[in-house]
Amino acid sequence: MIKKINTFISGTGSFAPPRVLTNLDLEKMVDTSDEWITARTGIKERRIAEDGTAPSDLALKASKQALEEAQITPDQIDLILLGTVTPDYILPSTACILQDKLKAKNAAVLDIVAACSGFIYGLSIASAFISIGQYKNILVIGVETLSKIVNWEDRNTCVIFGDGAGAAVVSATTEDKGVLGTFLSGDGSLANLLHVPIGGAKLPLTKENIELNEHFIHMEGSDVFKSAVRTMVNATEHIIQKVGITPEDVDLLIPHQANIRIIEALAKRLKLPMNKVYVNIDRYGNTSAASVPIALDEARRKGMMKEGSISVLVAFGAGFTWGSAAIKW
Ligand SMILES: CC(C)(COP(=O)(O)OP(=O)(O)OC[C@H]1O[C@@H](n2cnc3c(N)ncnc32)[C@H](O)[C@@H]1OP(=O)(O)O)[C@@H](O)C(=O)NCCC(=O)NCCS
Repeated sequence: MIKKINTFISGTGSFAPPRVLTNLDLEKMVDTSDEWITARTGIKERRIAEDGTAPSDLALKASKQALEEAQITPDQIDLILLGTVTPDYILPSTACILQDKLKAKNAAVLDIVAACSGFIYGLSIASAFISIGQYKNILVIGVETLSKIVNWEDRNTCVIFGDGAGAAVVSATTEDKGVLGTFLSGDGSLANLLHVPIGGAKLPLTKENIELNEHFIHMEGSDVFKSAVRTMVNATEHIIQKVGITPEDVDLLIPHQANIRIIEALAKRLKLPMNKVYVNIDRYGNTSAASVPIALDEARRKGMMKEGSISVLVAFGAGFTWGSAAIKW
């Protein structure tokens, strides 16, 4: 009998640039306060990449850690899937740049533009490739330097975002463990609620539109907030049902770190106690595609995933996109 091929996470890594920007620092930059940011978002500080540091540099550090833990060499990677909305360049993909820096010469390369859901989209694609036997080891990354596309004079957005990278090596196994299932979704009709209006091929950069600050992130915060709660509840309930478990079976929920109030609303709707929910938004802010894999890596290093335990990952982001994954360790 042919054994089913499962996808398990064989190694994780993460890296955040060393420069810390606190709420008190932000008080000196825009009309805001530590009290407001803490109460409305749960964020106390975030990391900022130095000028000249590329997303691929952050991704390289996280990836090397993940490979080391997975005990594989770069030439054993069959595919690199890199989620980002802040690529090194418009052309070529950041996955290509990383492949060269990592010397992963046998890897196919692909960027995924799914904003904060990028890592879960990557994990889902990786798991599909592995289950059909096409690849054995896939490097899935979420990386962002959102500090480069945020308007540092706009208090509505600049207090929320941060920079970082998280990576996971996902590998084939015939053991009864790994990714139990994934769920992906999206709604492009809500694109205008969270977007960068110019700089693409539809509206290339001009001196005039740059002066209007249209090349930065624009966001309708409270509309995004409501959609985030709705879609992440939906994605978590969907995956729990799809893989045939109950909410009580979830040992750890790793949600996208967008806002502590979004995370708490999600936990409340799912009737999950907060001690089963991983939170690090206070230290990193919203790192978009990097948020879930950084949290995943931290939780693993803290020994929070016991053998046989079940984690659910869930994210929501610009697009809108959303998705979830259930993993048995
Ligand atoms: C952005 C967000 C924190 C704003 O919180 P909110 O409770 O919705 O606040 P509002 O946008 O209603 O603004 C309330 C007031 O605070 C003000 N405000 C906004 N940002 C502020 C800041 N950094 N400091 C102080 N005041 C601020 C607003 O101007 C507004 O003032 P007004 O009432 O005089 O007009 C919240 O909407 C949010 O987190 N949304 C989701 C964002 C997100 O997750 N994006 C990424 C998705 S992956």
